Amino acid sequence: MPPTLDPELRRALVARIRYYNEMGIYDFYRRPPSLASVALEQAPADFLEQTLDPGEEMSPRKSTATAVVEETILEPISLKPEQSVSDPVKALKIIREDLGDCTRCVLHKQGRKQIVFGVGNPEAELMFVGEGPGADEDEKGEPFVGRAGQLLNNMIKAMGIQREDVYIANIVKCRPPGNRQPERDECATCSPFLMRQIAVVRPKVIVALGATAAKTLLAMNSSMMQLRGRFYDFKPSGVRSNDSTWDGCKLAVTYHPAFLLRDPRQKGEAWKDLQMVMKELGLKPPKSNT
Ligand code: URA
Repeated sequence: MPPTLDPELRRALVARIRYYNEMGIYDFYRRPPSLASVALEQAPADFLEQTLDPGEEMSPRKSTATAVVEETILEPISLKPEQSVSDPVKALKIIREDLGDCTRCVLHKQGRKQIVFGVGNPEAELMFVGEGPGADEDEKGEPFVGRAGQLLNNMIKAMGIQREDVYIANIVKCRPPGNRQPERDECATCSPFLMRQIAVVRPKVIVALGATAAKTLLAMNSSMMQLRGRFYDFKPSGVRSNDSTWDGCKLAVTYHPAFLLRDPRQKGEAWKDLQMVMKELGLKPPKSNT
């Protein structure tokens, strides 16, 4: 039987955990279950009051009180609402509704016309993640519909598939003014929603388009040169998986189509990245008519 917590303490802990969740923090570490069976009330007073002597290491036993709380509270509130539905269309709708008319970061008051949520096959094996909407995307409410989008469509076709087969989203869902790069705090505020979309779509491969997408998804600060050319094992952070059939996916990094429009000489390098992805997914380029 899980031990009963003082209701006041429980309320305070739930509020604190919600606060962390809203900041995008969902992972809390658990003590081994055997330690969790010791009730807070049963802990000796001298243990509860005890502080560490300087230089003394905290042993697992001394943190039993935390373990009790984690075992009984964290699991239920870390699961996202969409995780209780099996239909990915409905699940994505729940995330969209949760996003609402978002005002969580400054981008909502810097001229965005609408939120650009994401588009495509909700069960796609392949997902592309860009940086953030530009003017065309802001106007249409769909990612990658401008010039960079046309190039992305061509890249997708060259892989032997259609735009409708993949899922496309961005790190931030609102247009940064003047097409500036999204700030780190804007990426951090918005990306938990993307993580939830990824956990619903459960792709086999994600292609991060450009440095902002790659660095945010991988939480790495390396250069494009260092990031490209290999697969990473990826699991969406902050989403506790309740699906035993999906244990994350592979992630590859390539150049952003807008960069390729500015420097077409790099298209060959991007094609190498896409070929690596095609091999992983068993895709063959379409037969050319010429
Ligand atoms: N650039 C992006 O990163 N995303 C879009 O949706 C369009 C352009």
